Parts: sequence; C-alpha cells; structure tokens
Amino acid sequence: MLRVGVLYGGRSGEHDVSLCSAASVVSALDPRKYVVVAIGIDRAGRWHVQEKPVIVEDRDFGRVLKLEKTGTWLVNHFEDGNKLVLYNIDNKKKVTVDIVFPAVHGTYCEDGTLQGLLELAMVPYVGADSIGSSIGIDKDVSKRLLRDSGIPVVPWETIAREDWYRDPRGMEAIIKKKFSPPLFVKPARTGSSVGITKVKNQGEIADAIRFAFQYDTKLLVEEGVSAREIECSVLGNDDPIASVPGEVIPHHEFYSYESKYIDPHGAELAIPASLDAAVADVIRRTAVQGYRALCCSGMARVDFFLDTKTGGLYLNEINTLPGFTNISMYPKLWEHSGVQYPELVDRLLELALERHRAKMKIRTDR
Ligand SMILES: Nc1ncnc2c1ncn2[C@@H]1O[C@H](COP(=O)(O)OP(=O)(O)O)[C@@H](O)[C@H]1O
Ligand SMILES: [Mg+2]
Repeated sequence: MLRVGVLYGGRSGEHDVSLCSAASVVSALDPRKYVVVAIGIDRAGRWHVQEKPVIVEDRDFGRVLKLEKTGTWLVNHFEDGNKLVLYNIDNKKKVTVDIVFPAVHGTYCEDGTLQGLLELAMVPYVGADSIGSSIGIDKDVSKRLLRDSGIPVVPWETIAREDWYRDPRGMEAIIKKKFSPPLFVKPARTGSSVGITKVKNQGEIADAIRFAFQYDTKLLVEEGVSAREIECSVLGNDDPIASVPGEVIPHHEFYSYESKYIDPHGAELAIPASLDAAVADVIRRTAVQGYRALCCSGMARVDFFLDTKTGGLYLNEINTLPGFTNISMYPKLWEHSGVQYPELVDRLLELALERHRAKMKIRTDR
C-alpha cells in the first residue's frame, strides 16, 4: 500500500487553517488504499511524525489534526530511493513515506521552499512544483507573466523597499499621478490578505506602503476595481481542466483577513457563481490559460475580478495550495463539477506520481 505523508501546520500565518485542511485530507484517504502518516510542522519549523493521526474538535476551526510534538526527527532521503525517510534521533525510530501531500498554506509551505526540499529528496508530492509555487506566491512576477500571455490583469506598479526609502516623496508623487483612489497596496508575497490596505484617499498612501513593507521587501500598488470575486479550481498536469466558477461575497470592505478567518459571517460562498454561460466559459478557459502561464501542475485555485461596471474580467492571483477543508472553495467547486472530495484526493496523488515519473526520466548526466 502507498504510504502517504500528510504534511500539516507549518511556519506560516496559515498554520491553523492547515490543521483543518489536513484533518479533511486524512479523513478522505481510503484506508484500503493508503497508509497515512501525519507529519506536523510546528511553528518553529520542526517536523513531528505521527503514525496515528488524531483529529480533535476546535472551537474556532472545527475538526483539526492535533499536532503532537514527538521528539527530534531528521529528514533523510538517500536511503530507500524515492522515499522520504524520517528518523527519530531520540528513540532511533525510522518511518518512511512514498508520497507527500502538503496540506499546508503560505510562507515556507506554498512558496516553493518546501517543494524544493521534496524535489531534492526525489519523493513525489502533491501540488505545483518548486518553480510553479515560487511564481504563484509572487504577485509581481505572476502579473508580468500573465500580461505576457495576454491575460488581463489590474493595472499595477511594483515598488521595491530600497527605492521607496531612497525617495518616498518622489515615489508617492509617481503613484498619485498614475492612480486615483480607491487603490490597493499589497505585499508581493503574502497571502490571507495580510499586509493589504484599501486606500480611499491619497493622504493614506504612505502609511499603507510602510505597513505593507513590514511584510515584504517589495509591494504592489494596484488600481481598486469594484468587482465580483470569482474563483475557479484547476486540476491537472499537462492537460489541466477547470471546474465550474464560484463566487466569494465578502461582507467587509474587502476580502480581508478578518472576513476570511475571524468573522464567521465575514464572507459567503456562492457555488456555482451566478453567471451567464458564456462568461463562465471564458472564466474557465482563462483559468486554464493562467495556470499554464504560471507553470502550475497538480492543482491551483485561480481567482478573478469581474468588474461590476464594465463587465471586464481580470485574473487577480493563483493559489497553488488553496484552502482544502471539506468546506473550502477548491474542493467544493470540484464537488459541484462531479468530483467528490475523496476522488479529488486520489486524483491529486495520481498526478503527483505522474509528474514524478516524468521527472525521474530526465537525464542528469551529459
Ligand atoms: N485591485 C483590487 N481591487 C479590488 N479589490 C482588491 C484588489 N486587490 C485586492 N483586493 C481585495 O483584497 C483581497 C485580497 O487580495 P489578494 O490580491 O487576493 O491577496 P491575498 O493573496 O492576500 O488573497 C481580494 O480578495 C479583494 O477582496
Ligand atoms: Mg486572494
């Protein structure tokens, strides 16, 4: 039987959400087909292997995987080719997994760093590879690639921290000339709306920029669009397919951190989104195009803005490890497109194996 290592937790702002995603993944893995090993990553980044995953009820997050600290584990890969070997140096216990399912999100989880480690270990893993993940997390690089592929994106300006602090007044003047409020200031590589400000008048620009620079060394200033937020799930490697689109309806000023995770009534999901068939079709096609343009594989959730005034469609961003609880948008959209959650998990593991086989055929000699 295939031994699946479900990674959860992580050194990221989305640690808690991950415990919830992982509980859903672990519950969906068919015990007749897989042996599940849960691998919790604590907030300091240390790995803890649990061969008997424990799911508990959490007041805020519902069913979560309990992260138990189980000593000091070393991650090794040269033994038992193409498996991930985990050694407990306290009691000399050795645990191996054949494939990894990263049910983690955000920094050090979704940004290519973890994927790089797994690639070096030559072990198959679910989701975009290191290049797709690094591109997906970077809103500046993503937008340049999307623009290059002719996919519409909201007009933006990227600002590097050193440029801003060299001449804040001059930079501010450039921004004021190019954009009129409302505008959005966002760190280039966060998620969960962390560090994002909606700027409603020009006097707030400098504060919003200083705030975003607490989270990254580059940021984006973007024209604010009055838009419906439409999301589409994409699945596949070489032949990706798109789900029906869904809609997020935030009940806050925008889809902020509070509306995503804190306020239980912060946002509603409409699945499927109420759209003309022709518009839904364009969204699905653009989602696949964007997925390819950003070198994705496995899965991604592709998020759009549909301008309520002009009807214009913009691709906002791509999330390579989207929320994966059984009530999250990504699996819900597949459910409405005829792929149930356990089947989705199976399919993702198959895609990981398929990509791994292809990579293993690549010559590394000369
Ligand atoms: N240009 C924009 N116009 C209107 N709303 C925006 C814009 N950019 C971001 N937002 C709002 O902020 C939210 C978070 O921004 P997003 O770029 O998706 O970052 P994150 O990666 O943190 O989700 C969006 O879902 C939307 O509600
Ligand atoms: Mg977003």
